[in-house]
Amino acid sequence: MDNLQEFRDPVNYDLEELPGSADRIAFMCKFALRSAGPVLDLACGTGIVSLPLALLGLPVTGVDLSEPMIAHARRKARALGTTATFLIDDMRTFAAPTSFTFIALSGNAFQALLTQPDQSKLLRVVADHLDERGQFIFETRNPTGTDLRDSRTEEPWFTYVNASGEEVKVSGTQSYDKGRQILTWTSYRRWSNDDGQQVRRSDIACRFTEVDELDALLATAGLRVTQRYGSWDYRPFTSCSEEIISVCERT
Ligand SMILES: C[S@@+](CC[C@H](N)C(=O)[O-])C[C@H]1O[C@@H](n2cnc3c(N)ncnc32)[C@H](O)[C@@H]1O
Repeated sequence: MDNLQEFRDPVNYDLEELPGSADRIAFMCKFALRSAGPVLDLACGTGIVSLPLALLGLPVTGVDLSEPMIAHARRKARALGTTATFLIDDMRTFAAPTSFTFIALSGNAFQALLTQPDQSKLLRVVADHLDERGQFIFETRNPTGTDLRDSRTEEPWFTYVNASGEEVKVSGTQSYDKGRQILTWTSYRRWSNDDGQQVRRSDIACRFTEVDELDALLATAGLRVTQRYGSWDYRPFTSCSEEIISVCERT
């Protein structure tokens, strides 16, 4: 399965994601400013986090596997007059000649890595590129705080207004593979335009990692957690938190 199906329409991706991203952006800005840069934003998408950091005057490199997402990030950077660099690359194998004082990986992009070996490769890339006193911040949805049941009946999720001004109703189903710790969401976006009723289906698979497993992976990669939160508004992490937000340093 192509796991980038959700990222083929970057303009509407922003319209769906930006409204819920304010706390995450503020969190990242606070930590990145303290680090003074340079910043690496892994799986940066359309630059939802990278561009606010670049607007603060930090030197930012964004890396993403999706060509349409990077093309849109570059368009937005030009429109904003920032000098952020956006590269098409795989975060599991990314290599730069320099290190970074701040590395971000957000939008739950860690969960796009569907096996432990892939997660380990990514964390090794982070450790290799993190400055001696740099910080790495990432989040992953908390398995115990998430509805992981199989739900084959389509349920309404949310609505938004797309770039053409049409109301889009988003609904979907989900199925969980407990052995592989992978939840697959199938989304249906429905809207009407002059050509009639439209529907677009997309699938995305995400791996769910328990906090103990996560800490073991981080330790093996040479990283340790210095702060942990359950949401971007600094609520402490508990077993019921929706997110596992980790602030990490090199060991
Ligand atoms: C949910 S989006 C998050 C994007 C961005 N961080 C944000 O906050 O909006 C997940 C992103 O991960 C990217 N991605 C998935 N696998 C990747 C990989 N192996 N290397 C780099 N990017 C990847 C996708 O292309 C997509 O842009």
